[in-house]
Amino acid sequence: MPNSMIKKPLENVNGVLYIAGVSALKLAEEYGTPLYVISENKIRENYRRLATAFTRNYDKVRILYSAKANTNLSVLKILKSEGAGIDTVSAGEVFLALEAGFKPNQILYTGTSVSDEELDYILEKGVVINVDSLSQFRKMLKKTVPQTLSVRINTEFGAGHHEYTVTASKTSKFGVDGKTAMEIYRMAKNAGVEKFGIHMHIGSGIMQVDPFIKATEKLLETASIIHKQLGIAFNFIDLGGGIGVPYKPEETEVDIENFAKRLVDFFKEKIEEYGLGQPELWLEPGRYLVAEACVLLTKVNMVKETPYKKFVGVDAGFNTLIRPAMYGSYHYIVLANRLDAPLAENYDVVGPLCESGDVLARDRQLPKISEGDLLAILNTGAYGYAMSSQYNSRPRAAEVLVRDGCRELIRERETLQDLVRGQKIASWLKG
Ligand code: LLP
Repeated sequence: MPNSMIKKPLENVNGVLYIAGVSALKLAEEYGTPLYVISENKIRENYRRLATAFTRNYDKVRILYSAKANTNLSVLKILKSEGAGIDTVSAGEVFLALEAGFKPNQILYTGTSVSDEELDYILEKGVVINVDSLSQFRKMLKKTVPQTLSVRINTEFGAGHHEYTVTASKTSKFGVDGKTAMEIYRMAKNAGVEKFGIHMHIGSGIMQVDPFIKATEKLLETASIIHKQLGIAFNFIDLGGGIGVPYKPEETEVDIENFAKRLVDFFKEKIEEYGLGQPELWLEPGRYLVAEACVLLTKVNMVKETPYKKFVGVDAGFNTLIRPAMYGSYHYIVLANRLDAPLAENYDVVGPLCESGDVLARDRQLPKISEGDLLAILNTGAYGYAMSSQYNSRPRAAEVLVRDGCRELIRERETLQDLVRGQKIASWLKG
């Protein structure tokens, strides 16, 4: 039976998983496991589908890739070459964006709980700043008057695949309320800021357009009050990221044409109603662009049966992919070296960490698994490597880029030496 999850860039070639024309077995052999394999063309396709759907309805759309999903420089360069700007949240992400060749005016920085040192770095680089608090703005004004300023609004309407990924609500730490925003914009205008934006990001992993519409209504209402009271014209209105992708076979993908049309129609209706002119519409997708472009290859170290359970022990754990442990997220898994084998057993797929929560999949139906088999964990391009760690002193995985049958290493596997890099033994312990 054809497997609906095996679709471009994945392929079943005589029972072996291929990614963009490259054999998973070959990749595992050549680069070792665990290994993140990223398809360049899939990222490009995702970008084009999204950009087309939105620009079809409004020509002043700008897409800023949300770097936190995957900061590999090659991924950043791919999206840059497609015309994306970039959404960043730390000095590190700004640094990587600059390394990848983005110009400061293509980079938006939205920090929260921003340190003085980070603020200095951001200001020095001259990127566009989206402030998250009045205190951050006060500190900024003491140092400089930015040319452009955006404010993150807490719309109080949020959504997301897990409570940890909802970023707008009455109790959220993110953004500011309308009154505080008014104060910031007033100070900014008086200080001589010339260009303005307004921003929201309501959460992550959202499959419906309705929460976006509800929050956009609140955002634009706030924008209209600010516009009326302060005479500020907004150059851009940023609706954030958050568009989800299906992870389970029974989930359907977001109908992006319909999603874009409904959201943009609503946006246009409201900016007209409020007399907000023709601001640019910015979006900050992360997951939508990269999640489905990557599989994580992991080798089976152990098969174990207890009186109660069957376990498949692999070489990737929550140090490699934390989403299942952190959010209970589901990632589809296939037996990459025998794709046609019939489903046979229920296994817990577990990693090598000394933690009971080190589970990648619970009670998952899989073919009969043997030691030495190769599993592929799907849709791991977003918040996969980016959230990985060295926990249990396990060096981080490698990343490979694939395209039209070609492959290239884009991040070396860490070595044991990386575990001591930067460490210093206290002088009194030496000897
Ligand atoms: N913009 C801002 C300000 C954000 O905070 C985020 C994500 C995005 C854009 C991109 O959201 P996306 O389009 O990727 O949903 N680690 C979680 C997701 C956390 C997202 C945090 N912020 C996960 O693995 O599901």
